[in-house]
Amino acid sequence: MTARTFAIIKPDAVEDGNVGDILSRYEHAKLRPVAMDQRTISPEFADRHYSEHVGRDYYPALRDFMTEGPLIAVVLEGEEAVARVRALNGATDPAKAAPGTIRADFAQSVRRNAVHASDSPETAASEIALWFPDL
Ligand code: PPS
Repeated sequence: MTARTFAIIKPDAVEDGNVGDILSRYEHAKLRPVAMDQRTISPEFADRHYSEHVGRDYYPALRDFMTEGPLIAVVLEGEEAVARVRALNGATDPAKAAPGTIRADFAQSVRRNAVHASDSPETAASEIALWFPDL
């Protein structure tokens, strides 16, 4: 079923010049960008996006990282988009990510891990509404 999901190309991947390569992975899998924007987010916006993670021990470092510079926010559309973008991204920890996944190829660590993607259709809907309220 055609669906939409939300992804972030994180500040490490933008800094490292990997935006084009990462977008190519999605496009070659027939996951098309329907909205895309480069922005630098505030700590308060990071708290809204990661509301389920605020308070975890790793969250201050995650917030510092996500606000350190520009990122690319993108809505991707295609067959089974939520699960397929997660599969293309690979495991959260690049040391555990399968060969050929985006995190295996571009992530530096569990924190500087190149990409984010919504983990369910419900999360995708709420993240798209947060990041692209006019879509
Ligand atoms: S995931 O991909 O959502 O299933 O990953 P999860 O393990 O639930 O982690 C949620 C987000 O927290 C980030 N994370 C960390 N950041 C910094 N340091 C440590 N140790 C750490 N562990 C997890 C992880 O990258 C997830 O961010 P997103 O942006 O959702 O990928």
